[in-house]
Amino acid sequence: MAGKRDILAIEGGKAAVPKGVIKAWPPISALDRKLVLASLAGNKHSFGPNCVAFEKEYAAWNGNKFAITTNSGTAALHMGVAACGLGAGDHVLVPAYSWSSSATCVLHHNCLPVFVDVDFDTINMDVKKIERAITPRTKAIIVVHLHGLAANMEKVLQVARKHNLFVIEDACQAHGAVFKGKKVGQWGDCAAFSFNQNKCLCSGEGGMFVTDNEEIAKKARQLWSFGETSTPVQSRDFHAYALGWMYRNNDLTAAFGRAQLTRLTDYIRTQRENGALLIRELKGLRGLILPTEPAGHEHTWYNFTSRIDMKALGWTGDPKRLRDAMMKALQAEGVPVGVWQSFILPAMTVFLAKNAYGKGCPWSCRYSKDVRYDVNAYPAAQRHCVSHFGMTTPLRAPNGARAVKAVADGFRKVFENVGRLDVDKILGPPK
Ligand SMILES: Cc1ncc(COP(=O)(O)O)c(C=O)c1O
Repeated sequence: MAGKRDILAIEGGKAAVPKGVIKAWPPISALDRKLVLASLAGNKHSFGPNCVAFEKEYAAWNGNKFAITTNSGTAALHMGVAACGLGAGDHVLVPAYSWSSSATCVLHHNCLPVFVDVDFDTINMDVKKIERAITPRTKAIIVVHLHGLAANMEKVLQVARKHNLFVIEDACQAHGAVFKGKKVGQWGDCAAFSFNQNKCLCSGEGGMFVTDNEEIAKKARQLWSFGETSTPVQSRDFHAYALGWMYRNNDLTAAFGRAQLTRLTDYIRTQRENGALLIRELKGLRGLILPTEPAGHEHTWYNFTSRIDMKALGWTGDPKRLRDAMMKALQAEGVPVGVWQSFILPAMTVFLAKNAYGKGCPWSCRYSKDVRYDVNAYPAAQRHCVSHFGMTTPLRAPNGARAVKAVADGFRKVFENVGRLDVDKILGPPK
C-alpha cells in the first residue's frame, strides 16, 4: 500500500509496479500456433478456408447474419459508407473525438464528415447535440463506441429514424460491449471491428464488417474485392461492376483471429473483472476522474481512460503540462499510461487544410456544400484531449488482481504526492 511518505520513482524511489508483473498482450496459446502453422502448411494463403470459417464464427459470436473479414477496421468502415449507398457530397455525422479513420473513411467515398462534440462523461458522441448538426445533406451517422463503452444506441437510433439516416457503428474498440442486453454491431445498419495489435481480438492487423442486411452485405463485398460480385472462393469473372478496393484478408491472419476468437468471451470477462477492481481501488482519489459505466452498459475497458481534475488539484496552468508530468511520474512507477489521441478530429490537418484528394476535393466537388471546421466548437472533446491518459495491458488477460493492485498503488502514490511534482523539472520549462 502506498503512503504519503513514499519516494516517487521519478525522484529515485522504488517503482510501485515491479518489472514483470504486467504480462504482455495478447496471450499466445497452443491453439494459435496450431491454426497458424496449419494455414502456413496449406497452400491457400490468400483468401482461404480460415477466412471463410472466421467470417462464419465471428458472425455467430457477435449475433449477426453476415460478416466479411477485412485487412483493417478502416476498410470495414469504408465498406459501411459505400454499402449504405452514400455518395458525392453527402454529409456524415462523426464524433469530434475518435481515431482519424472514423472520419477519413467518409472522405474515401467522396462524402463530407460533419463533427458532433462528445459527452465529457462517456467520451461518446453527445446524443443531445446530434440533431442540431443535421443538414439537408446528412445521410448517415458514424457512431463510435469509444474505448469499449457502447454509445446510447436507443437515443442514436431515435434521431436516425426521425431523420431517415443510416447508422454505421465504429465498433473497432468495442468487441463484446453491450448496451441494454444487446452487443454492439447489432444496433446499426452495419458495423466495423478492428483486430490490430492492441484490440481485444488481435490478429496482428485485420478487421470485420458485420451486418444483418443482405443488400448491404452484397454491396460491401463488392467494394471489398475489386468491385466484383463473387468472392475469390467462387468462380470469378474478374469484372468491376462497381468501384472496388482490395480490402480482403489473408489466411494466416484469419487463422490467428479464429484461435483468439475462441477466447474472446473469457478475455472480456477478465477485463470487466479487472476494470471493476481498479475502480474500487481508485474511487475517491483526489484529482482523478475515473471512467464511467452508465446503467444499462457493459464496458469492456478496452482502454481504461481517466482524466485529471485540474480544479480539484488547484492547477491553473496549462492542463497538458500537469497531465504530461503526472503521466511521466506514473510511467516511472511502472504504470503503462499514455495519451491516446492528442488532437480532436476537426483539428487534424486533413480537415483544416482540406488536403484529401487535392484541389480541395471532396469539399470543392460540385455536389458538395462546403463544410467548415471550427476547432473551438467542440469544448468537451478539447477538455478531454488535454486532461486524459489511458492504458490497456494491465486490464487484459492474463493479468489479474496482482497487476491491477500494483497499478492502483502507482496511481495512489502519484496522486497523493502530486504537490511534490516539479512540473518544470520533469518536462523542462514551458515553450
Ligand atoms: C475507434 C477506431 N476506429 C477505427 C480504427 C481503425 O482500425 P484499423 O487500425 O484496424 O484500421 C481504430 C483503430 O485503432 C479505432 O480505434
